[in-house]
Amino acid sequence: MNTRIIPIVCAATPTPSGEPADMLTDTRGRRVRDLRISVTDRCNFRCVYCMPKAVFDHDYAFLSRTQLLSFEEIMRVARHFVDQGVEKIRITGGEPLLRKHIENLIEQLATLPVEITLTTNGSLLPQKARALKDAGLHRVTVSLDGLDDDIFKRMNDVDYPVADVLKGIEAAAAVGLAPVKVNCVVKRGTNDNQILPLARHFRNTGHILRFIEYMDVGSSNGWRMDEVVPSAEIVARISQEFPLDVVDSNYSGEVAERWRYRDGGGEIGVISSVTQAFCSTCTRIRLSTEGQLFTCLFAQNGHDLRAILREGGSDDDLRRAIAGVWRGRTDRYSEIRTAATAAARKVEMSYIGG
Ligand code: GTP
Ligand code: 5AD
Ligand code: SF4
Ligand code: SF4
Repeated sequence: MNTRIIPIVCAATPTPSGEPADMLTDTRGRRVRDLRISVTDRCNFRCVYCMPKAVFDHDYAFLSRTQLLSFEEIMRVARHFVDQGVEKIRITGGEPLLRKHIENLIEQLATLPVEITLTTNGSLLPQKARALKDAGLHRVTVSLDGLDDDIFKRMNDVDYPVADVLKGIEAAAAVGLAPVKVNCVVKRGTNDNQILPLARHFRNTGHILRFIEYMDVGSSNGWRMDEVVPSAEIVARISQEFPLDVVDSNYSGEVAERWRYRDGGGEIGVISSVTQAFCSTCTRIRLSTEGQLFTCLFAQNGHDLRAILREGGSDDDLRRAIAGVWRGRTDRYSEIRTAATAAARKVEMSYIGG
């Protein structure tokens, strides 16, 4: 069950390592830099690795309107995080463009001195890209798991065609939501034959294609280790056709390892949560649609901020709660993953955001 926060650490208290109070660090010395805000737990896709149809069906209890944080509540939380060191905010879902008037939230978030990005399946980008850009969104990341229509439809499980996602990617690039990153989750035996077609398609476009190792997030996707394609294999397969060289990270804690085509065709990334855990530099925190704070993608429980927001908590209460959660953070799931942890009950990705 979700736990209520008992604010036990005052933000003004020096941390055990003695660093200044405004430098918020967790038990492993990691700073909080990236806030990921989920704005809906619903999606118009049913990707097999995220919202399998057998679980997310007509009977599934999605959150009701009153359970969602309002834009004002989200802003209040976001402001506190920015005050405490967050430099980047990513809007996630479910599918975040399904949230009504999402551009109004972005417009408010864009008043904060941080980068604002969004992860989407791309289906609504043709209609919404211009409004998102005008609201102040900086970049988008679009999920696309194949170039072959049959294979992509097997992945999204709602018969959604590749061409429409490609239109969304182009719409985003056309209004300057760039560079557009394209995320492909690779499942062995399902879409790993799409690695090369995707690489060929996105070379020389300016878009950055990233391959993500299939992860054991949530409890419903039936994850198996033998369906994970290690990033090293992905890089080797692409390198055979287009030689690649590794590139330095853009920033400490970047989840994607960057590779550049030797012939100048641009760059790709690989995200290797399973074979090369990056917990030691993990600076991310996630706010769920209903205001639960999660310190790890693989967490079992969140910390209830909505209760503080709705039960008259002061700014100080909120600040102390946030600081207390981060300071108490011990997470390093990907470093300690085993068959047993993979089978444990965990929060769903569509609820917490990617
Ligand atoms: P930018 O560098 O700003 O583009 O952001 P990003 O690389 O964090 O991009 P994005 O949010 O698209 O992350 C890509 C994917 O990596 C996510 O959808 C997740 O599948 C995975 N991922 C991101 N953060 C974490 C994390 O903290 N832990 C794990 N295990 N996976 C993560
Ligand atoms: N493994 C890896 N990545 C996943 N995503 C969703 N579920 C999984 C999973 N099981 C990614 C999607 C999308 C983002 C929201 O999270 O590809 O890019
Ligand atoms: Fe929807 Fe994204 Fe999950 Fe696919 S990965 S079901 S598009 S939230
Ligand atoms: Fe961060 Fe948890 Fe992912 Fe490790 S497994 S990188 S602690 S979110």
